[in-house]
Amino acid sequence: MKKIQVSPSILSADFSKLGDDIKRLEQSGADMIHVDVMDGHFVPNLTIGPPVIKSLRKYTKLPFDVHLMIDPVHKYIKDYSDAGADIITFHPEATKNILETINHIKTFNKKVGISLNPDTEIKTIEQQLNSVDLILIMSVYPGFGGQKFINRVIQKIRDLDKIRNQKKLNFKIEIDGGINFETSKIAIEAGVDILVSGTTVFKENNGDLEKNIKILKQF
Ligand code: DX5
Ligand code: ZN
Repeated sequence: MKKIQVSPSILSADFSKLGDDIKRLEQSGADMIHVDVMDGHFVPNLTIGPPVIKSLRKYTKLPFDVHLMIDPVHKYIKDYSDAGADIITFHPEATKNILETINHIKTFNKKVGISLNPDTEIKTIEQQLNSVDLILIMSVYPGFGGQKFINRVIQKIRDLDKIRNQKKLNFKIEIDGGINFETSKIAIEAGVDILVSGTTVFKENNGDLEKNIKILKQF
């Protein structure tokens, strides 16, 4: 049985005590911390930037899985790298040259992720699949937590998993949006390795983080 990882999104944490919530996530079995960066332009919501990420870095040793929903993205990579990101994920629509941005992230020795919106097809990034560590499949339109899982992305996960096997590639498949105790199972079955979860981790079972992370990993 493959090992499933959970990357809780701090979008659903208490923003007045992010440091404490991150510590609690580490103690509760989270594998990494998903940080949603939104610019109010690429997506219709605004969250946090490099200074906040930098100030959170000291609260945990877990990797920061930074999901950049910003356009343009390329010129800000260094700032997020310096702030303490370990995985830097961007959307292909937000850069002029996908491969240049991938290589730029690699110059900082960071892992590279590419995120596909529900309407973005695999063929947009097919040439880059051998250059990335992670593909983040959006199962909601990015911008807000608490949205409903879009079922049709399951086929995209299956297709991606198939390509990965056929071409013997090593990237991980991560899913983001509307993950609950049912949709997690469907996603894992389709080929997902890493589950992002905000609402389910922070709100189910009266906010019992450990319990919620454990259930998500059960398969
Ligand atoms: C949406 C974000 C997600 C979101 C997940 O734009 O990328 O990470 O916070 O939240 P839930 O788990 O509530 O759908
Ligand atoms: Zn995200």
